Amino acid sequence: HDKEPEFAEPVRNVTVAVGRTAQLLCVVDNLSTYRVAWLRVESKTILTIHQNVITRNYRVSLSHNDHRNWVLHIREVQESDRGGYMCQINTVPMKSQVGFLDVVVPPEILGAESSSDVLVREGFNVTLTCRTKGYPTPKITWRREDGEPLAVGNWQNNMIQ
Ligand SMILES: *[C@@H]1O[C@H](CO)[C@@H](O)[C@H](O)[C@H]1NC(C)=O
Ligand SMILES: *[C@@H]1O[C@H](CO)[C@@H](O)[C@H](O)[C@H]1NC(C)=O
Repeated sequence: HDKEPEFAEPVRNVTVAVGRTAQLLCVVDNLSTYRVAWLRVESKTILTIHQNVITRNYRVSLSHNDHRNWVLHIREVQESDRGGYMCQINTVPMKSQVGFLDVVVPPEILGAESSSDVLVREGFNVTLTCRTKGYPTPKITWRREDGEPLAVGNWQNNMIQ
């Protein structure tokens, strides 16, 4: 080999919503007879080697062109897919780059686990619950529907679990 392979650009971080398709791109110049592999950083699992998909995860596939652009596709992304993906070239020593996949989950209020209408006697305490899910963790704010400020009291003693 007169020229060793080189990464043409960094593997970029990718953010996708759960359920969508993520694509991580690795661009290599002068690959020649060397091979490109994709690995999961945390588990050190090999996903692909050269043109072959090694993982049994049916959601993972690979596309490439000119032996230069190596695109890892992950369909129907799940939260467990969040983490580092390494593109590796089998030079000695090996060359590698890591891109991170972040999986976001749209915020949602879980109605069944949140308060509905409550009747309370004046002077008594009332607890209103708003339970949510999402990633990153949703920020919850309370306000009165009529726009009036929340009355002075210990309503500030809210609890985030
Ligand atoms: C990619 O994400 C990782 C981990 O979140 C972070 O440390 C790194 O700085 C990010 N790289 C770029 C180019 O944004
Ligand atoms: C209302 O809540 C406050 C603060 O938690 C407590 O000190 C008080 O005893 C409660 N009053 C009633 C009627 O439950």
